[in-house]
Amino acid sequence: MPENPALFSPLELRSVRLRNRIGVSPMCMYACEPDGLATPWHLVHLGARAAGGAALVVAEATAVAPEARISAADLGLWSHAHARALEPVAAFIEAQGAVAGVQLAHAGRKGSTQVPWVGRRWVPPGEGGWTVQAPSPLAFGPHSAPPRQMQEADIARAIAQFAHAARHAVAAGFRYVELHLGHGYLAHQFLSPLTNQRDDAWGGCFEHRVRFAREVARAVRAVLPDTLALAARLSVSDWLEGGWEPTQALRLGRLLKEDGVDLVVCSSGAIAPGSAPPGGPGAQPPYAARMRAEANVRSGAVGAITEPSQAEALIASAGADLVFLARAMLRNPNWPLHAAQALGAPAPWPKPYARAVGG
Ligand SMILES: Cc1cc2nc3c(=O)[nH]c(=O)nc-3n(C[C@H](O)[C@H](O)[C@H](O)COP(=O)(O)O)c2cc1C
Repeated sequence: MPENPALFSPLELRSVRLRNRIGVSPMCMYACEPDGLATPWHLVHLGARAAGGAALVVAEATAVAPEARISAADLGLWSHAHARALEPVAAFIEAQGAVAGVQLAHAGRKGSTQVPWVGRRWVPPGEGGWTVQAPSPLAFGPHSAPPRQMQEADIARAIAQFAHAARHAVAAGFRYVELHLGHGYLAHQFLSPLTNQRDDAWGGCFEHRVRFAREVARAVRAVLPDTLALAARLSVSDWLEGGWEPTQALRLGRLLKEDGVDLVVCSSGAIAPGSAPPGGPGAQPPYAARMRAEANVRSGAVGAITEPSQAEALIASAGADLVFLARAMLRNPNWPLHAAQALGAPAPWPKPYARAVGG
């Protein structure tokens, strides 16, 4: 057992101090039908994970506009009312000693669907859905919305929507803003040659395909106070022939750092049906190490991290600056407290729970 586990060492991103290296990965809850406003579910779900010892609790992919949602049940952050609804959630997370984070997202062509447990099929405009936009008029799959190709004004509007949502995130009390540039959503649709077939200044060569992601990053950085942390989540690979791939993602990571991004979370896949990493814990986390070493930017590892020793090894070997856990945190909100006990670090159980752990 390591004497001072690296997993429980603090990390500073600008003025944001994380008490350890464990983040709750953003996870869509589809709990907001129909207005995008946070509900008691968010307070309980995210709050429990902050009380469970994570350093950073990142609220789900949060839509920057109504037409940016995946489904009508998505969380949103496009108005003061949305910020006010999230305020108690961020405040509770911070009161537990964790940092409140939010992931800002635009679904692009993956929008206007049913919630996943109903089926993820297209919901047309006449049935409660909306017209979806994308860099090119290519549907995600046979049961997905037919997207309208974005014009210059649509692109400018989407970038501005990210910046407006970031202002609302700050007003709500979030101190970490993560841009969703992966998983086949709008920014990723610009990055991947499979979904971006434009021949204007937003498509074609690498510089044109990364332009949307970079402009979003710059616009959001410009409205965030210097003290707050900005992160970006990338899919480092489409895992498909002719798609976006790691050398391009590493190049983009370096550019995003220039644009004011403090941490790049290395996920992968989801640009099209069949775009997924091979199963198991070895597929994604190694890209966080490469991002850190080759793009010289702080990185987050995610994907099948379930064991304290595995998380400790990633941080201790400089394979990542942070680890993000999703499904393991759903199974056990107290995962970080158990990991601390397993690795011999102090486990700050909430005082009212002390009797559960021998107090
Ligand atoms: C219920 C659920 C919802 C998810 N929603 C999001 C999301 O909103 N944004 C995101 O970037 N990833 C989302 N993901 C992906 C996770 O954040 C994570 O990258 C993925 O599950 C792999 O990590 P894991 O092996 O620890 O689960 C979601 C995953 C799950 C299980």
